[in-house]
Amino acid sequence: MQNPTEELYEWHRNHAWMPFTQMQLLGNPPIIESGQGVYLRTRDGREIIDAIGSWWVTIHGHSHPRINAAIKDQLDRLEHVIYAGMTHEPALRLGHRLSALTNHHLPRCFFSDNGSTAVEIGLKMAFQYFLNTGRPEKSEFVCLSGGYHGDTIGAMSVGARSVFHEAFAPLLFDAHQVPAPRVEFRNQTDPDLVSSAIAAPIAKLAELFETRGERICALILEPLIQGASAGFNIYPAEYLRQVRALCDRHNVLLIADEVFTGAGRTGHFFATGRAGVQPDILALSKGLSGGYLPFAVTLATEEIYESFLGTDRRRTLFHGHSMTGSPLGCAAAHASLDVFEEEAVLDRVRELERSHAEHLARLQAGPLGSHIKEVRYMGSVGVVELALEGDYTSEFGWRVHEAALSQGVLLRPLGPSVYLTPPFVIEPGELARAYEVMESSVLAVLGARVPA
Ligand SMILES: Cc1ncc(COP(=O)(O)O)c(C=O)c1O
Repeated sequence: MQNPTEELYEWHRNHAWMPFTQMQLLGNPPIIESGQGVYLRTRDGREIIDAIGSWWVTIHGHSHPRINAAIKDQLDRLEHVIYAGMTHEPALRLGHRLSALTNHHLPRCFFSDNGSTAVEIGLKMAFQYFLNTGRPEKSEFVCLSGGYHGDTIGAMSVGARSVFHEAFAPLLFDAHQVPAPRVEFRNQTDPDLVSSAIAAPIAKLAELFETRGERICALILEPLIQGASAGFNIYPAEYLRQVRALCDRHNVLLIADEVFTGAGRTGHFFATGRAGVQPDILALSKGLSGGYLPFAVTLATEEIYESFLGTDRRRTLFHGHSMTGSPLGCAAAHASLDVFEEEAVLDRVRELERSHAEHLARLQAGPLGSHIKEVRYMGSVGVVELALEGDYTSEFGWRVHEAALSQGVLLRPLGPSVYLTPPFVIEPGELARAYEVMESSVLAVLGARVPA
């Protein structure tokens, strides 16, 4: 028996507290009853294109039969078991498969359950690696301006002090922040323009390493695409390659936060793979389970892992969560990797990159063109940055969200950046519809002269 909708909304008003949401301004959100492919279906029978893959997690579409079946199958065998001093086949096999995806450069897999935690673990690994190897003074972190690594205390500490985190600034530890590369997107295919644009940020980093390298344990960054805080700053691989070389020179570990960029987003399984750069530690979540379950992994080199070994139990990595190594999460991740192999998913993402380029060029040539500051795209990500001031709290983005939702498309602009990160299975007609709705919603909101 179903509860009447009014009763559900009463419970929503009385009990719900949602992340990143000003609840007083929310109203009654759509109640989603099912999902199929790129579509979400509401209780009142409407269909919504999930053009952001439900916060960037849904990569193979909702209710993929292969992943559904794998989770059900695993559920009938073993729902959970402590993953410390005991193990299970799905975790063992997954470790092997993930290591292979890094060409066994990162053979050690530490499982957890969300992206922020995967980052926290990476920070702790880097910090303790130098403790364990007799260099305790190497304890400081470097991060990039505009970076976002999650909402736990450590992850916030190495992130930009944006509107998301400024309230918590007194709680956070200090990290050195260096300027992120900002390279006009249309110049990124020209090696000369790229090298002159990244020269200044690289020089800043080199200077920091020269003066402070002896005290720095790790640098963390989002490879190729800075997402949530930077509004999708897409930057050239050459920057990453030069960062890698500087880290090598100064014995600084490179932590790649691939929570957003990993699992195929850029048309390669890892963005670091697309860039041809090997990090020392890599955090992965979101698409790891196909977006099905809270699941994450932090991968590390054998050298880092070995620094934790010995007969002294104090060298252990003292971090863990009750649900670590979830067999259901592992089963979903296996099925997701099977889908990558069986459905040539990375080819599809590369095709999507070409489609984004075409749609974005069309938007630039149309009525929205005069409002656009820049368009950017990579893999499954397409971004329109409007010539507007503002951040996540600005009315503009929220009005666009509402306008698009009323036309059956889920968008969540980040300040002036309106973007699509659809499930990779989106069909050409569905992508065209998402762009049409993006364009008409932005034009409607701009026409209504909404304050920034
Ligand atoms: C690059 C990056 N790192 C970390 C996180 C945090 O992941 P989670 O929301 O699963 O904690 C996110 C989330 O968007 C992210 O984009």
